[in-house]
Amino acid sequence: MNRGTTSPVQIDLISDTATRPSAGMRAAMASAEVGDEQRGEDPTVNALCDRVAELLGKEAAVFLPSGTMCNQISIAVHCQPGDEVIMDALAHPVHFEAGGPSALGGVMIRCVEGRHGVFSADQVQSSVRMPDRHAPRSALVWIEQTVNLTGGHCWQLNEIREVLDAARRFNLATHMDGARLFNAVVATNTSASEFSEGFDSVCIDLTKGLGAPVGAVLAGSTSFINDAWRIKQRWGGAMRQAGIIAAAGLYALEHNIQRLQQDHENAALFAQIVASHPQVELSVDSVDTNIVILDVAHTDFDALLCGRYLMDKHGIRIGTLGPRKIRVVTHLDITNEDVRLVAEAFLEFLSNIG
Ligand SMILES: Cc1ncc(COP(=O)(O)O)c(C=O)c1O
Repeated sequence: MNRGTTSPVQIDLISDTATRPSAGMRAAMASAEVGDEQRGEDPTVNALCDRVAELLGKEAAVFLPSGTMCNQISIAVHCQPGDEVIMDALAHPVHFEAGGPSALGGVMIRCVEGRHGVFSADQVQSSVRMPDRHAPRSALVWIEQTVNLTGGHCWQLNEIREVLDAARRFNLATHMDGARLFNAVVATNTSASEFSEGFDSVCIDLTKGLGAPVGAVLAGSTSFINDAWRIKQRWGGAMRQAGIIAAAGLYALEHNIQRLQQDHENAALFAQIVASHPQVELSVDSVDTNIVILDVAHTDFDALLCGRYLMDKHGIRIGTLGPRKIRVVTHLDITNEDVRLVAEAFLEFLSNIG
């Protein structure tokens, strides 16, 4: 059983999920009105769902424990077992949802190789299966906003619209995994409803840059959400006095969206400082939002060793994505000063290996 690290982490850049609820958020949670969520009677959960539906321009929404459950329920509603979902090879369900698409939805994934996780209408068109009794049925096109594994890269609105048009031409359903949708909103000055327009379902995660401790929200048409509710119930995701946690989500939507800009500035600052090192392979322009992924060319560089050094010597936690690849994610518990310290500590490690 993995219980995670118990060593004292002082600066945690492993993910934007590392945030702790602020005093204001805790106060909102403590005073939340609650009811039985499973019966639709929790006023705070209902308010959160209404707010997210409104922000995304959808008819309805459902509160769920996690982004993963949003994604898996979307697949189960949009697809029949044996169907195929078109998504980028780096998308979250391909790597981090414990095989959920096959285990829970019974679907196959048709991976496309996008650029920074962004694929084109042509790639959709060439991935769609023609009706044939031997082939799986193409059912769903999926995009991730922002793209986690390419360093928080944003889909632009025109790129999304072209892919949606292609999906519509082939009668495919569409889902946006908007775990970090609000990072894209702030980075591109495009509203969440503009990004969501045309999708059959969209989910957002409250526990990433928004800083809430639990929860995600899935939105779509009333009929889609009714179907999603049946699966939420079946999979044990229905809750009771969940207003306690929904209050954190409402607080986050009110207070923590615009401030994502600071996280983006901090990520850019880190990138700028470390990219000056000759062995660091990172284009500063590629940092769209709050995630920095970089490669180190030095043959003696060992990402795991680097992570251990930063933790043991400086109490800094970073992520590793490969033998020479590290990931740093900024969030609301990380200051400008923290980022400078982390960048210096990282350069110190590089100078130690020569
Ligand atoms: C793009 C993306 N989708 C979905 C998820 C899943 O979110 P959760 O951890 O709430 O299940 C994550 C989490 O990192 C993510 O990055």
